[in-house]
Amino acid sequence: MFSFDRRDFGSDFTFGVATAAYQIEGGQGDGRGTSIWDTFAATPGNVHNGDTGLHACNHYELWPQDLDLIRDGGFDAYRFSFAWPRLIPEGTGTVNQAGIDFYDRLIDGMLERGIKPYATLYHWDLPSTLQDRGGWMNRDIASWFADYATLVAQRFGDRLEATATINEPWCVAFLSHYLGVHAPGYRDLRAAARAMHHVLFAHGTAIDALRASGAKNLGIVLNLEKSVPASDSDADKSAANFGDAVFNRWYLGGVLKGQYPTEMTDWLAPYLPANYQDDMAVVSRPLDWLGINYYTRGLYTASTQPGRPVEQVPGPLEKTDIGWEIYPQGLTDLLVRVSNDYTKLPIYVTENGMAEVEGDNDPRRTKYYEDHLKAVLAAREAGADVRGYFAWSLLDNYEWAEGYNKRFGLVHVDYETQKRTPKSSYRAFQGLLHNAR
Ligand code: FCB
Repeated sequence: MFSFDRRDFGSDFTFGVATAAYQIEGGQGDGRGTSIWDTFAATPGNVHNGDTGLHACNHYELWPQDLDLIRDGGFDAYRFSFAWPRLIPEGTGTVNQAGIDFYDRLIDGMLERGIKPYATLYHWDLPSTLQDRGGWMNRDIASWFADYATLVAQRFGDRLEATATINEPWCVAFLSHYLGVHAPGYRDLRAAARAMHHVLFAHGTAIDALRASGAKNLGIVLNLEKSVPASDSDADKSAANFGDAVFNRWYLGGVLKGQYPTEMTDWLAPYLPANYQDDMAVVSRPLDWLGINYYTRGLYTASTQPGRPVEQVPGPLEKTDIGWEIYPQGLTDLLVRVSNDYTKLPIYVTENGMAEVEGDNDPRRTKYYEDHLKAVLAAREAGADVRGYFAWSLLDNYEWAEGYNKRFGLVHVDYETQKRTPKSSYRAFQGLLHNAR
């Protein structure tokens, strides 16, 4: 049970759960095209145990019971993502009617149950054919993405509560093109620099396209990390500052101020697309809200390896099952910082949660949520306009490079039988959200 009351958050605060298409849908028939995650996962060595999203949680068929779980938990909203290759299998051109029908059913199913649909256009499943054309390294991705955004706005826009363009552009660009951890798995600074700019240029271009089609309540979802020096030394302090630029300020500064941090543009100068400065007005198109995903902090130290600007080191705090330090204060700090230094837009915590070992009894997860929800309350008291909170995730699901090995769900999934079993953390939310109604 949580120690606070729903009313502490105010009467219009939105509580929701979040998922992403590739992590839960499965259902690769019915005309769905392949994505970069299908082939990345099929390549040995990329994903734990060679797991793929082929079946995942079979949400494609079992969505009615998943929506029932959201309703029964007392949640107001469901943050889900559209699979681009399910709607437009080749990335551009022909539309897959079965994909349109699926999301029609899903969205109508939410509305019938009184659940508000919060959509994300891109949660990492780029159509493979677009990767063949350079994916996020190719400037043309802005127009491919805008056409896809237009389709979504035209077919579903009237029923969506809110729409985000991109989930976690740092992951789309840096993690996937420089660190090589996510699809397409590049480790190349030029590829990363181009993706880092194009992902935000595509975001702004899609905002224009969505607005032109009448879509309302538009935002982006950034993953922010509290960057902390590993020691008091000046070298570690400057490493943490650089980490903050890579992880946070590139995206906050670009999207909300139309400016990239100078230490980044200095570092990436030889590799950034020519005349990228001319795009900054598009990158920073006005938004209606900002989404922030928060999981942990990063501890930084100066790198001893040539060419590598900084290094992250493991910290001393208690860790989740995926090895991330538990640091609720970081959420308060980031929310207050964004509100003070970057924007007065309404802020939503669009993801927060923890990996825990398998089981239905997860008191550590309930405590994690308790402490992070308190961190949200503290940020609100300090003046940050936080309007909602989405737990990651409704279900145990396909955790990208970790496969099915790491479980983030409020609800346990047996992947053999596809049986869903609510965990004690789900019951804690149920208690919080139902009691106040
Ligand atoms: C975030 C992703 C989400 C999930 C969580 C654990 O970075 O947006 O899909 O994998 O981490």
